[in-house]
Amino acid sequence: MIIVIDGPAGAGKSTTAKEVARRTESDYVDSGAVYRGFTYLFMINDFDKSRLTEALKNHDLHFDFHIDNVRVTHGDKDITQTIRSAEINNRVSEVAAMPEVRDEVRRILREISGDRKRGVVLEGRDLGTVVFPDADYKFFLTAAPEARARRRFDEQTRAGADTSLEQVRENVEKRDRIDSTRDIDPLKKADDAVEIDSTYLTFEEQVARITDFVRSMRTENNS
Ligand code: CDP
Ligand code: CDP
Repeated sequence: MIIVIDGPAGAGKSTTAKEVARRTESDYVDSGAVYRGFTYLFMINDFDKSRLTEALKNHDLHFDFHIDNVRVTHGDKDITQTIRSAEINNRVSEVAAMPEVRDEVRRILREISGDRKRGVVLEGRDLGTVVFPDADYKFFLTAAPEARARRRFDEQTRAGADTSLEQVRENVEKRDRIDSTRDIDPLKKADDAVEIDSTYLTFEEQVARITDFVRSMRTENNS
């Protein structure tokens, strides 16, 4: 069983996908972490696109996904924290707009997901439209931009980051703009995805919307 959850930054995809994976006894994959890993590769190549293209051919990035532990390494260096830095936040959408990066990430995501004995819940931007067009369940999670920026800001300040609501809002808006207007695989709801606006939902309510839907469809299909 493949469940995909797409949507813009701060919509609640990661936290929701992890909880849905727990409740459906599935594995969890964060496709944004893979794009962030390649942005790290871009960073150590001095943000030079032709060097990144070269580095892609023989990269040493590894992604290990568990619900409670996502680990990203480059060679023997653990870059799990680094890929969440402001610098990576600011450059990731640029890297994610490169066709050769998207080809490699799509390959990695399909390989990771094809390898599993259990179901898998993945979250991202183009999973329902491009990477897994035949996914069993597709959801598109949204929330008003103001709510998304506020959630991200609260989350980052809780983690001790020195940032302002304005800075976070600018980053979220910039990524939304690049992600939804790029030529290839833009952020877009799949025609057959269920849209959930979480602006006024509690976390528990938005998780329940997804798990209840999956449960009811499975019951219907089995009867
Ligand atoms: O957690 P947040 O929503 O802030 O971002 P993320 O899921 O870590 O994704 C980081 C960036 O990777 C996004 O802003 C997109 O540019 C890119 N991305 C993508 O293009 N396609 C995906 N399936 C997942 C992420
Ligand atoms: O992965 P994405 O960027 O879509 O969002 P996330 O990292 O799952 O959620 C961003 C923050 O919003 C987290 O701290 C969530 O706990 C919080 N959140 C919320 O405050 N209210 C909701 N209804 C959903 C998520």
